[in-house]
Amino acid sequence: MTNRPTRSETATARAHPNIALVKYWGKRDERLILPTAGSLSMTLDIFPTTTRVTLAPHAVADMVILDGAPTSAPVRDRVAQFLNLVRDLAGRTEFAVVDSVNTVPTGAGLASSASGFAALAVAAATAYGVASDSRSLSRLARRGSGSACRSVFGGFVVWHAGIDAGAAGDHSSYAEPIDSAGVDLALVIAVVDDGPKAVPSRTAMRHTADTSPYFRTWVQTCAADLGRMRAAIAEHDFAAIGEIAEGNALSMHAAMLAARPAIRYLSHASFAVLDRIQTLRTKGIGAYATIDAGPNVMALCRPADVADVATALSAVGEQITVYIAGPGPAATIVSEELP
Ligand code: PMV
Repeated sequence: MTNRPTRSETATARAHPNIALVKYWGKRDERLILPTAGSLSMTLDIFPTTTRVTLAPHAVADMVILDGAPTSAPVRDRVAQFLNLVRDLAGRTEFAVVDSVNTVPTGAGLASSASGFAALAVAAATAYGVASDSRSLSRLARRGSGSACRSVFGGFVVWHAGIDAGAAGDHSSYAEPIDSAGVDLALVIAVVDDGPKAVPSRTAMRHTADTSPYFRTWVQTCAADLGRMRAAIAEHDFAAIGEIAEGNALSMHAAMLAARPAIRYLSHASFAVLDRIQTLRTKGIGAYATIDAGPNVMALCRPADVADVATALSAVGEQITVYIAGPGPAATIVSEELP
């Protein structure tokens, strides 16, 4: 008899992106991807990633196919490194074929690393037969891309920073869903620039932590915002959720702007959308901004206001494309073929 979980040789999983309302920006451990502060997000119901992992006992390396074509060497290496973690946990050595399909429209300027590594974690853990309770899967996804640990769960999700370093840090830093029954939130995503970002977020995050005089304040801000955001969600206080999210996102960008040299993701068009969101508020429509590591601005609003907000934001400029999202599901194993 053995306690080793049975492996299924091949498994397909689907995960959705998430948008942080209290952002993760800074690591206390680069290798283990331990954050300097906790964060909180909403998993979206659009743009899923579907990933199939198939063990290939005779292969001499991992093979990674993204949207039907072999990936570049850096992407393949990052996936192979992640699979090494899974193989270590499983006590197995076989390489794998990873076949992944992303539905984020090309050039939408939205990160797919969260949905990508959440789907990969769930599929790989199942294919290699690694014990796979959600918390362990969240810790595992975190090692691929920090924000991926939150995409393991649906709805509103908190990522605990955890305590200490090494194994204790690894064990204590995971995401879990929070009770958000009755919180109705929609997201209008205004894509102002669909080009690749000037600085990858991993590099920008390290540079901010290393050089921004505001970084320490940013970390303190996150701890306070996280507590306030959890209270606002528990109280179904939409205005407080929006105000905290907007303030947190702008604080993150302020810390980046203070880095030497500055990291400046926000463009003229980003500010034009921010202005429009403010105008909507003066007209009595509850809309609040959040912005990730790029120029695209997202407006949080009530589902009933989605059409008005989407119309107002797309009217800011001809180059702006708008997408609408709501709270989405947890990552899961799926039985159907890749899309
Ligand atoms: O997990 P990463 O390395 O893709 O970094 C995500 C950083 C932000 O999207 C800007 C913030 C967040 O909490 O998702």
